[in-house]
Amino acid sequence: MQNFIVTGGTRLCGELELQGSKNSALPIMAACVLVSGKCLLKSCPRLTDVYSAARILNCLGCKCSLSGGCAEIDSTGVYGSEIPEELMREMRSSIMFMGAILGRTGECTFSIPGGCELGPRPIDMHLAALSKMGAEITDTGGRICCRMPKGRSKGARLSLSFPSVGATENIILCAVTAEGETVINNAAREPEICDMCRFLRSCGAKIKGDGESCIVIEGVEKLHGCEYRIMPDRIAGATYLAMTAAAGGELILKNACVPETEPFTTVLEQTGCGIYTAENRIYLRRGGRLKAVKDRIRTMPHPGFPTDAQAVLMAVLVTADGTSVFEENIFDCRYRHTDALIKMGADIQVMGKAAVIRGVPRLHGADVEATDLRGGAAMAVAALAAEGTTRIGSISHIDRGYERFEEAITSLGGKIRRE
Ligand code: EPZ
Repeated sequence: MQNFIVTGGTRLCGELELQGSKNSALPIMAACVLVSGKCLLKSCPRLTDVYSAARILNCLGCKCSLSGGCAEIDSTGVYGSEIPEELMREMRSSIMFMGAILGRTGECTFSIPGGCELGPRPIDMHLAALSKMGAEITDTGGRICCRMPKGRSKGARLSLSFPSVGATENIILCAVTAEGETVINNAAREPEICDMCRFLRSCGAKIKGDGESCIVIEGVEKLHGCEYRIMPDRIAGATYLAMTAAAGGELILKNACVPETEPFTTVLEQTGCGIYTAENRIYLRRGGRLKAVKDRIRTMPHPGFPTDAQAVLMAVLVTADGTSVFEENIFDCRYRHTDALIKMGADIQVMGKAAVIRGVPRLHGADVEATDLRGGAAMAVAALAAEGTTRIGSISHIDRGYERFEEAITSLGGKIRRE
């Protein structure tokens, strides 16, 4: 088990080129199963979750090779429709393969996916939608089998009870080669869904309305290969901005998605940091003391404040002057990082969905364990601002989502090492 050793108190200064988005790369890799041909994905981040997706592709008979930030995927010879249990367990996004495999082969066998423990993460909406699209679903001791009796899924009118990112993606994946038209009402609007749809359109899919709450997909017979560049990671961007805000300094984020990061930057700006944007760059400067955020910070589906940035913003606000309040509305159990922040000297009170943060003058180093991906990143944000040295354990969580994390921080002057 590796650790990060972080010594705080140094300002962060410099420029960073953002990695490709994890939450876009994973569904796009799954989408490649639908393509009868070769795809070249550029800006594919080097992350353990991406390596898990590559293993799933290879075990289905696709040829996937990763090198130099590119993924080459040839799905001409897909022969499998089963995802082994141990690969399902490695990450939540393994579930995205379900819609794509069904779309390509007409059947898929899998088990409940693993991933970050953020509270219950059922797949009922995914399964209900696929059943409306014609799938017969059986569950034998936790192995779930979905089968399209006519071989091809059929278009349907669907309405989601909540705009789930994964369910929206899975339905789109199953619908692009279905017979007829599929309409998704109350669809999720996250930018990563739009990125997956742009990729699918480059392969010949007919999709309209992504980024809005009603998406319409007209099924086509076949998809063809393409070259595609994955969008930059807005949550990794938010994390490095949070780090600079917490530790002080100046950061230029290059290759950033400016409008997609706005739900985060508009809140971060209220702490008194100067934030300026130009084309695909975000510039942040923190000089004086941080201020608390006056309005309650409510996590919401996009374009609301992203749940994935809740922990890293909290790590900034723990040393701001005044009281800030979070309300976590997406996951039941997404405050697991608070114990570590409290151990570092933060004053946080969690009451159900709410977390009340009373700013303290400074944090101190401590021995902490990463609890999940973004919670682990938040500990690094806090550690860079703290006095003394912090050991962060269980950093495999962080490696799931941040490419060369310590190299990025070191390039800005931060003191972090892996051991
Ligand atoms: C995606 O997860 C992201 N993962 C998560 O990123 C992100 O936190 C989340 O969307 C919300 O934005 C990827 O894109 C790979 P959901 P997903 O389905 O698709 C409930 C990160 O840190 N729900 O929108 O799993 C569910 O329990 C992460 O990178 C059902 O009840 O999220 C949750 O409360 C982790 N039934 C809510 O909906 C279902 O069938 C939102 O989940 C599906 C979801």
